[in-house]
Amino acid sequence: MSMAEEKVSTGIDGLDEMLGGGLPKGHIAVVMGAFGTGKTTFALQFVNRGLSEGENCIFISLEEDTESVLNSAQMFGWDLRKHFDENRLGLYKLEPADARSTIMRIKSELPGFIREFGASRVVLDSVSLLNMMFDKEQERRSTLFNLCQLLRTTNCTTLLTAEVNDDNQRRSRYGLVEYTVDGVILLQYDEKEGDSEGKLNLRVLKMRRSAHSRRIKPYTIGKNGISVHAGAEMF
Ligand SMILES: Nc1ncnc2c1ncn2[C@@H]1O[C@H](COP(=O)(O)OP(=O)(O)OP(=O)(O)O)[C@@H](O)[C@H]1O
Ligand SMILES: [Mg+2]
Repeated sequence: MSMAEEKVSTGIDGLDEMLGGGLPKGHIAVVMGAFGTGKTTFALQFVNRGLSEGENCIFISLEEDTESVLNSAQMFGWDLRKHFDENRLGLYKLEPADARSTIMRIKSELPGFIREFGASRVVLDSVSLLNMMFDKEQERRSTLFNLCQLLRTTNCTTLLTAEVNDDNQRRSRYGLVEYTVDGVILLQYDEKEGDSEGKLNLRVLKMRRSAHSRRIKPYTIGKNGISVHAGAEMF
């Protein structure tokens, strides 16, 4: 089987179905959504699946500190702490204020580090906070492009999270990452008039070299994390 055909389970069953088994191995995908749509939960679920399949994983957070990441996972019943203690989960907090200089400094060492750690899954939560640290559009673009190029040399499957643009919920805040990465999964609130409760729905906007569903599927965040109700139709 060629690498492009090999699939990596996201840990979200209904979504794996939509993707024909999962994310293509070695892909860089972004989970995009407004605040509170479950981007961090998605990323934790992805890492938890990897760990439970015996893979080593790296989770880089620009938002929450390591203790809070471990606690969030625990809330969903995912014992990431155990894997962290066993050194199978590399968990790093980047202070947004230092993120720019840190990324510039460690960028070239990143592939070697990932290989040495033996990670096959990498998460960066969130790429929007990283982008925010660059004033110039050109610098933002080249850093992101460069980072993705480096990640592609590692063969690991990468998941980025990104905030959406307030004026266009189908676009990321800086409008860059969706062009740079191989796959885009959009998490959205669906607020219909007359609904007392906003519903959440998910769609796969892009997945290079892969046949995937373009349907909009509802999902919920419950005590076991994200569940996509793949059988249900939104419209
Ligand atoms: N243990 C839980 N059980 C059920 N639902 C939960 C649980 N924990 C979080 N949620 C729901 O998930 C939502 C947030 O999820 P998450 O932090 O993954 O979103 P996010 O997209 O990363 O948000 P942000 O953009 O603020 O980082 C919460 O607002 C809450 O509605
Ligand atoms: Mg988050």
